[in-house]
Amino acid sequence: MSLKIKKGIPLIDQHDKNGMWGGKFGGNFVPETLKKPIEDLEKLFSKLRKDKSFIRERDYYFENYVGTPTPLIPLNQITDHLGGAQIWAKVVSENPGTAHKIYNAIVHCLIAKRAGKKFVCGDTGAGMAGKTLAMVAKKFGLKCKIFMGVKDIKRQKPNVDAMKKFGAEVVPVTSGSQTLIDAVSECMRYWVANCLTSHLVVGSTVGPNIFVKICGYSTSQISRELIVQIKDEFGKIPRRLKLLNVCGGGSSSYGFWSSFMDYDKRQVEFVGIEAGGPKKSKLHAAPLTNNSKIGILHGAAQYVIQDKDGQIGLTDSISAGLDYSGISPLHCFLKDTKRARYTSATDEEALSAYKLVSSMENISPSLEPAHAFAEAIKIAPKLSKDTVIIVNSCGDSFKDRDIIKKRLGSYVR
Ligand SMILES: Cc1ncc(COP(=O)(O)O)c(C=O)c1O
Repeated sequence: MSLKIKKGIPLIDQHDKNGMWGGKFGGNFVPETLKKPIEDLEKLFSKLRKDKSFIRERDYYFENYVGTPTPLIPLNQITDHLGGAQIWAKVVSENPGTAHKIYNAIVHCLIAKRAGKKFVCGDTGAGMAGKTLAMVAKKFGLKCKIFMGVKDIKRQKPNVDAMKKFGAEVVPVTSGSQTLIDAVSECMRYWVANCLTSHLVVGSTVGPNIFVKICGYSTSQISRELIVQIKDEFGKIPRRLKLLNVCGGGSSSYGFWSSFMDYDKRQVEFVGIEAGGPKKSKLHAAPLTNNSKIGILHGAAQYVIQDKDGQIGLTDSISAGLDYSGISPLHCFLKDTKRARYTSATDEEALSAYKLVSSMENISPSLEPAHAFAEAIKIAPKLSKDTVIIVNSCGDSFKDRDIIKKRLGSYVR
């Protein structure tokens, strides 16, 4: 059966009654004890989406707390340096918390309040989801617990300090690879035992169906702004537009693309860049680029890195936010429908892209979006001058200062 995207309906809603996109991806593969809390959350979210006071509140916080829209800026120096396509950046890292994760945190905390919950718990890899959840929970008077792998606690220290400053409890996860995948597992395990009092905030468009939907609904704010900004800037949607976004779990890219879903891909191309890992290693975090098989991870069916026995495979990436074996079911669907193209960039390519962008322009992308800049740098010289490339610069580099100092010799912001 060939898969198709329906026009005029948000992709987050194009799943079947089992919560699956294209009958293959997503779903709710959860223990019996979570069925009822998940059903309750589904009902509440579907009611709140239609509730004008909820939407007003969401927009109030997006406008007055996040401060929308984030800037869309031309990267003139790099464009001149590379030749070819015009390169632009949507500087989502200007948000409080320096990443796109703030949208998901706000929507979830608003839901938690309406559900009468006093506690929120969440996972984090790069620390961006954790930091923004800690910030918003504090603002809304909710107690916050963040699960984070020990490897990531060490490599993303500035964000761990920030979470603590905002009053969150950071729970070190010592199981498995001690990275994002284990943080998500541990957080879900905690929620199984505490779902009556605590609201779960999954940090990306992953997990059981409802968490994919809430996160995608939240990050869609990025493309709602972007489509208006592009029309203001160019007078219309350019004839050749490429939207480049890094893919870890897939929340920034879904949010960056969602308002453009109905455009023909020959006009608006979506390019997702996964983590290719260290150049000399066989390990990576790029299930879509490497044609991984479908498996179940964190309650959902998706393309997932597996070993020869079908066990979840190890990953490696310089970016803690990308070090994840799976990928959102939304992206699996976008891959199979061929609406989006997926590729990867290595650690080394991300580092040199970071170096070029931060030395030539007034932005300093974290190593996650640096993967997307690496692809822009690769393709721009081969493209015509009327092609417009926009990269979602969805995170700030400060959290990566220790890694950058070690790998490149210095870190200057
Ligand atoms: C700055 C930044 N960009 C990208 C990602 C990848 O996640 P996603 O694909 O859900 O946007 C992360 C994850 O932590 C991140 O912190």
